[in-house]
Amino acid sequence: MKALWTLAAAAAGAAAYGLSRKGVREALREDLDTVQRRDPAASNDFVSILSYPGLHAIWAHRGLHRMWQHDELKIPARLLSQVVRTLTGVEIHPGATIGRRFFIDHANGVVIGETSEIGDDVMLYHQVTLGGTSMEKTKRHPTLGNHVLVGSGAKILGPVVVGDNSSVGANAVVVKDVAPDSSAVGIPATVRPKRTGAAPESVPTPKTASAAPDAKRTPERASDEADFELFDPAIWI
Ligand SMILES: CC(C)(COP(=O)(O)OP(=O)(O)OC[C@H]1O[C@@H](n2cnc3c(N)ncnc32)[C@H](O)[C@@H]1OP(=O)(O)O)[C@@H](O)C(=O)NCCC(=O)NCCS
Repeated sequence: MKALWTLAAAAAGAAAYGLSRKGVREALREDLDTVQRRDPAASNDFVSILSYPGLHAIWAHRGLHRMWQHDELKIPARLLSQVVRTLTGVEIHPGATIGRRFFIDHANGVVIGETSEIGDDVMLYHQVTLGGTSMEKTKRHPTLGNHVLVGSGAKILGPVVVGDNSSVGANAVVVKDVAPDSSAVGIPATVRPKRTGAAPESVPTPKTASAAPDAKRTPERASDEADFELFDPAIWI
C-alpha cells in the first residue's frame, strides 16, 4: 500500500513538473486536439483525458522514451512500460520513436517494438502490431511515414517502410515496403494506389512538424519550434 502511495506521489510530482513546461503543455494540447479530429465519437477534453487509454499510453511513452536515452534509466523505463501495458492494453517499447499527433483509437492489444519509427500524424486502431521478424539486435521493426493509417488487427512485420500518406487495411499482414500514397490490404498485403484518400483525414502538417523522433527534440527545441496555436489556453489544466 505504501508503495502505491509512493508511486502515486511520484506520478503526481512528474505530472506537475511536466505541466510546468510550455513544450509539454503544447504537446498535450495537440494530442487532445488530435483526439477530437480523429474520433467522431470524442466529446470534450475532460472525457478524452479520462477515457482514452491510447492517449494515456502515448503520454507515458513520451516520458519513458526520454528515460530510455539514459543507460542507467533503461531498466526502470522498461519496467514502467509494462505497468503502462497492464493499465492501457498498449505495449510500446520505450525505445520506439514516435512523432507528433500520434493517436491510437480503441487502444487494446497494440504492440510497438523497440526499433519502430513512427512519423507525425499517424493513427493506429486496436490490435495493431509493429513487430520484428529477426532476433538480431538491429533495426528490426517497421518505419511508418507521416499521415499513415493502420487499420484494426493489421500486423506490420520486419524493418519495412510504409510511405507517407499510406494506409494499411484492417487485418492486413504487411511484410514488404508500402509506397507512399498507397493502400496495403490482405494477407500477405498487396499494395495498390490509394483510391479514396483512405487516411482518416488530411491534416495540414505544420511547418515545424517532422518525423524526427521524440528523442531528438529537446523540450527547449520543441517549444521553440512549435508554431501551432493553443486554441483555448484558458481551459488548460
Ligand atoms: C484499406 C482501407 C484504408 C481503404 O483504403 P482505400 O484505398 O480507400 O481502399 P478502397 O476502399 O478503395 O478499397 C480498395 C480495395 O481493397 C479492398 N479492401 C479494402 N479494405 C480491405 C481490407 N481491410 N482487407 C481486404 N481488402 C480490403 C476493397 O474491397 C477494394 O477491393 P477491389 O479493388 O477489389 O474493389 C480501409 O478499407 C481499411 O481497412 N481501413 C481500416 C479501418 C479500421 O480498421 N477501422 C476500425 C474502426 S473500429
